[in-house]
Amino acid sequence: MSGPLETVVRLAWTTFRSVLSDKSALLQKVVKVQEALSTIKIEDVGITESQIQRLDPKQSQGWGEIKAPVGFVEVFEDDLLAVGAFLLKEYAVLPMHNHPTMFGVLKVIHGRVRIKSFDLLDQDKDEKIPKFLTADSQPSSEEVRKLRFRSETEYTSDSEPCLVTPSEGNIHRLEAVGGPAIFLDFISPPYNPHLGRDCDYFQELHVNPNERKEPMVN
Ligand SMILES: [Fe+2]
Repeated sequence: MSGPLETVVRLAWTTFRSVLSDKSALLQKVVKVQEALSTIKIEDVGITESQIQRLDPKQSQGWGEIKAPVGFVEVFEDDLLAVGAFLLKEYAVLPMHNHPTMFGVLKVIHGRVRIKSFDLLDQDKDEKIPKFLTADSQPSSEEVRKLRFRSETEYTSDSEPCLVTPSEGNIHRLEAVGGPAIFLDFISPPYNPHLGRDCDYFQELHVNPNERKEPMVN
């Protein structure tokens, strides 16, 4: 790692370190990381044009070279910050997942990524979670969390980075649309199951199929 990407990683590291001790300053400080990230290009991440072509069956002579729909390139990780690049084939999906107590900044650097995100609600104050849901499975109420739909947006390299906080946009689903896509993911602190920061995956449920903006997930 060197050049502009190293500069952004260093800025992110110092920013997230201060944010973790002063969460009220989050938005003012993270905006600097978002601004710096806006200048990052795929070549700064060390991803080559041939790697991108190998993701795209329309351009690749050797379709099947990369069998997995999603690739990951680790850029940096310590106890405070994890940075990586996700490489997605067209229509590849990262299923609904969470980032418990974590912050994140996500920047698309190639292609187009559709992000559907949800806010966590205060589970203790919400007593309206029903016992029975219209779904293939019948999860127990303890396994169900009520979320607030936040947004469904398509991001490109021209878009502002997407921000995740412990309560806002913390659960999301990502999909490459219109071709292969690559995005940079900054998360702080990193996943650590031993410290209660495991990644859970969710299934979207609906009490009323018409209530598309108040989904139930487990
Ligand atoms: Fe995520």
